[in-house]
Order: sequence, then C-alpha cells, then structure tokens
Amino acid sequence: MSENRAWPADQVKRWPIKKLVPSARNARTHSDAQIAQIAASIREWGWTIPILVDEDGNLIAGHGRVLAARQLDLESAPTMVARGWTEAQKRAYMLADNRLAEVAEWDDELLQIELRDLQSIDFDIRLAGFDELYIAHEQVVGGDETAEPDIDLRATAVTMRGDLWRMGDHCLLCGDCRSCEDVDRALQGRHIQVAFTSPPYAQQRVYDPSSGFEPIKPSEYVRWFAPVAANVARHINADGSWFVNIKAAAEGLDTELYVFDLVLAHAREWGWHFATEFCWERNGVPKQVVRRFKNQFEPVYQFARGDWKMRPERVQQASDDVPKAIGKGAGNTTWAQNGSLSNAAAQGIPGHEWFEGRTSPGLAYPGNRLPTFASTHQATGHPAAFPVGLPKWFTLVYSDPGEVVFDPFCGSGSTILAATHAERCGVGVELAPRDVDLAILRWEATTKGHAMLEETGETFDQVRERRLNNATT
Ligand SMILES: C[S@@+](CC[C@H](N)C(=O)[O-])C[C@H]1O[C@@H](n2cnc3c(N)ncnc32)[C@H](O)[C@@H]1O
Repeated sequence: MSENRAWPADQVKRWPIKKLVPSARNARTHSDAQIAQIAASIREWGWTIPILVDEDGNLIAGHGRVLAARQLDLESAPTMVARGWTEAQKRAYMLADNRLAEVAEWDDELLQIELRDLQSIDFDIRLAGFDELYIAHEQVVGGDETAEPDIDLRATAVTMRGDLWRMGDHCLLCGDCRSCEDVDRALQGRHIQVAFTSPPYAQQRVYDPSSGFEPIKPSEYVRWFAPVAANVARHINADGSWFVNIKAAAEGLDTELYVFDLVLAHAREWGWHFATEFCWERNGVPKQVVRRFKNQFEPVYQFARGDWKMRPERVQQASDDVPKAIGKGAGNTTWAQNGSLSNAAAQGIPGHEWFEGRTSPGLAYPGNRLPTFASTHQATGHPAAFPVGLPKWFTLVYSDPGEVVFDPFCGSGSTILAATHAERCGVGVELAPRDVDLAILRWEATTKGHAMLEETGETFDQVRERRLNNATT
C-alpha cells in the first residue's frame, strides 16, 4: 500500500452535529445506558476519535458518539471524510469499525490489575465502561481456581489413617465419613453451613484400593449412604444446605435407579427437604452414539433441614437484558401486567419486539443450569475430581465468610480449595491416604501455606521425612 495516498484521518475538521446523518444500515445498536456512558467519557476526556462520514455527511463510524453529542447538546464534533469510497466499502467499514475492536481479547489478569489500581486512586472506572461489580465478580467467581499447581505426589502415601491435618483455618481428616467418631473429630464442635460432595458413584470407579474402599452395589447404595447423611444432619445449621453431586450409570437397556432412591430416602426417610436440583453442564464430544447420547450434564441435588440461607446476588452477572420489575409491589418481577411472553407469541408478536422496553442493562440472576467451570480432573491427579469453581459457586451462594463448608468425600480437596478462595472454613474427610496427600499438596502449592499434623504440630514435609526414615530403618 502507498503511504502517499490521502487517508481520512489526515484531515480532521469540526462538523456541525446536525450535518451528521445516521445510517439506516447501521447494525450496531446502543441502549440509553450505553449512550449515557459514552457521553460521560466525552465529558471526562473530551473528543478523542473523529467521526467518519462520506462526502455528504452520511455517518460511517461514530453513531454512538453522535447520539452522545446530542445528549450533551454539543454543536460540533471532530469529523473526517472518507473520500471516493464505494458504497460497499462504506457499508463494510460500518461493520469493521465495531467488529475489529470486538475481536480483540482482554488479558484478564492485567485488566483486573488496571481496574483495581484505578479504583485505588479514586478514578471512576465506570467511565471506562466497567463497574465495581465487574471487579467483584471476577474476584469471586473467576480467578485462580482453574490453574492447577505442579505438585510432588509420591507413590507411597505420607498420610496415615486417623491423621488430622490443619491447613490454616481448614481441616482434613484421613478417615471414614460414615463413622460418627471420624466426622465429629474432623469438625471439632463446629457447625456446617454448606456440605458439598461428590460421593463414589456406586461401582463406577475404583478408588485407591489400599484405602479399604470397596465399590458399592447399586442395590445397597442407599443403606451404605445413610450414615453419611445422618452425620451431616447432626452437624448442619438449621439454615444450612447439603449438596450431593451424583449421576447413575447406564448399562444395557437400563439406567441405574439408586440415585433416585437416594433422593427419595433423603426426603421420605431421613427428614430432609428436597430443596431443588441443579444441572451442571459437562463438556465432551460424542465419539459414537450407542443407544444413548453422550452425557453432557450432571445433577447436583440440594437438601435442607429447614428454610435455607441463600445469597443469590453474589453470583449475579452483568447483562444488557435484565427483566424490569413491572408487576405490583416492590421486587415483583412478574411479566403478567403487560401480558406474558407466551401470550405475545400466541398473538404473533416476535420475542425480540415483546422484550423491547421490558428489559434494561443491569445485573441478572443465573438460573439453575451451571457452566462447566473449566478445569480438568486429570490436572489434579484424582480420577474423579470436580472443578474448584463448582463447590465455590455453592459456597458463595449458600454460606457467608467464616462459616464451615464440609466435604465428607473430599478426594483431592477441591472443596477445601473452594472454601479457601471464598474465605470460608473448609473441613473434609477422605478415606484414601494418598488422596489426602494430594489435597494437602494442592492446598500448600495454591496458598503457599503449610499443613500441620494436629497430633504433633509437624509440617507435612517433616512428617514425610520422619515416616520415610522410619520405613527405611
Ligand atoms: C468422587 S470422589 C471425590 C472427588 C472430589 N470431589 C475431588 O474434587 O477431588 C470420592 C472420594 O470419596 C472417597 N471415599 C470413598 N469412601 C469414603 C468414605 N467412607 N469416607 C471418606 N471418603 C471416602 C474416595 O477415596 C474418593 O476420593
């Protein structure tokens, strides 16, 4: 390309706003709130990017800024002219101008640092199009839980059955969560606000055989699980929640029914309310379909002893289309007053028209379908670990900082990491000594803290050394 060619930005002049004609072909839309945001940024920094028009003043780029200029009662704006462009070039640039900025990505880590720094010097980050909730949300829901640290897990376990490890405010017992004594020992008189777990899926997986774990026959599952639910019931707060993530396997023509039996037993035999269920989305591409489609979700069942505490605002997300409260009474978000969406559909009103005016930018609540919470269990070294983001989501919504989050089948300690990130107090029980080692090493690598053996006050490294020496002498 020749640099001698005249470029639109070579000459920028102020044009009267009333001479700038918006294009009917502009596919980019702006809500009132977005225009107000652009106006605020012009007020702060002045005009930084010229408007682009053709020779007749038809707008090619800068529709939002021109609307903002009108809102600010400005009379003129810096403008450049695209001379000799074909109609196709003008139309394509109208898209390119928005799209090219859109396809770039944020470096989330740097972005968070910038936003927090600006906030710390009292700069209003809303002028840059972000708000405090964006930062809070990133701190709370995103962040470090997807990164798996490198850890040095040895073939021979350091932990022995009965070891109780203190990890900062958290505790992990190598024991059996079906035993009252073990659960009491792990909790040490503390009450559970949230219990979150993924128990063994009957006979689906073989965990560390040296732990004494034996796969459970589906027909015996409910009986086997009863003491676990009873131990949680003995320690859970009246407004606490008990979450169980489990999905039955299918073989031949039948899908196992023990999971349904387990839900029924909680509600009909063991005195729990069956509060609700969640769908946790799983990734996975079907290689082949034999009788059934690939499993792409797992349920999480919620049980409670009484009316449960819930803080849904903690997982709200910024959205352009939050339903407005239009019903009678504060906080009532019913659609009924202006007719329901299904009535509108029956009258042939397209969905997007019906929504117009009934939504506005703001914070939206999620539904009960949860994302995959990226992370792979392979990275943890445990065959059935769930991502830390999963227990963290429930921890944030159903408990407050400082409260106890308990995982009776703690595995590689994902729930303890979630409690750590959410500033709760994690308590776990795990049968397999090597998984306890794994949980400790994950926690130590993530927090740079040191686990201590309750009985002797030694660190994990000291215990490893001592037990290794004892084994070789
Ligand atoms: C599905 S895995 C849990 C994985 C865990 N959510 C994680 O993210 O690593 C179930 C775990 O329960 C443990 N387990 C089996 N029977 C147990 C029992 N009676 N008490 C405590 N843990 C047990 C197994 O060793 C296994 O690590």
